[in-house]
Amino acid sequence: MDNRPIGIFDSGVGGLSAVRALMRRCPNENILYLGDEARMPYGTRDRETLLRYAREDLAFVLRQDVKAVLVACGTVSAAALDDLRRECPVPILGVVEPAAAEAARATRNGKIAILGTGATTRSGAFPRAIRRIRPGAETLGVPCPMFVPLVENGYIRPGDPAATLFAEEYLAPVKAFGADVIILGCTHFPVLKATIGQLVPDTLLIDTSKSAVAALEDLLRGQDLLADNSGEPSQVYCVTGGKEGFEEVAERFLGDRFDHEVEVVSLS
Ligand code: DGL
Repeated sequence: MDNRPIGIFDSGVGGLSAVRALMRRCPNENILYLGDEARMPYGTRDRETLLRYAREDLAFVLRQDVKAVLVACGTVSAAALDDLRRECPVPILGVVEPAAAEAARATRNGKIAILGTGATTRSGAFPRAIRRIRPGAETLGVPCPMFVPLVENGYIRPGDPAATLFAEEYLAPVKAFGADVIILGCTHFPVLKATIGQLVPDTLLIDTSKSAVAALEDLLRGQDLLADNSGEPSQVYCVTGGKEGFEEVAERFLGDRFDHEVEVVSLS
């Protein structure tokens, strides 16, 4: 048993999809969240820059004495997790492997599409992880750059016309490919699940945050690191900028009133 917080970091507010999944699955856990709002988006950066940002994010959460780290950001998980894993003294998990494993198990026709940022699809991390489990699987990566600003600006109502327009465009190659499983490989995309789902009703949509949180729970249980249920769990939210915008969008992600203090921090 370990009551220290779990450190969760993301390029911005999107990682709150992982916080929501964690609060539902492991309600006793204390959470330390870092959103690097000042440098978001990560999905357009090159690998070298991403690795530098990811190392700074990790160093910050480790300074808060966390017992484990969840890299909620799809882009960092895809481009930098192997490096972070080598450098991290506590258990660390990204969103790629758990979602890839779930997709590889779930597909019936062996065709899996991955929706992500440009950096995520370029990295090839999801296809590699899927083929480790199911070598014959076919994959299609589709960069969906407009989904992130749409979510940030609140176009998230199921069937929202602007989100639907872009979803139709991004899903056209997925339909032609014939995927029966789609991985929502970016923190922001689970919020658009209903809009995306309406366009591909017979396809299984995998929420990377939920898969990662399930894997995190297994990992913590296996190492006897789950928190006990004494006392009210705490949530600490840190951002590198954009505090007001973070608070506003946070309610959309958590689907609830967001009444936590948000601290603006420097990573250096
Ligand atoms: N958090 C990023 C991800 O999950 C999306 C937003 C960004 O580009 O920074 O890939």
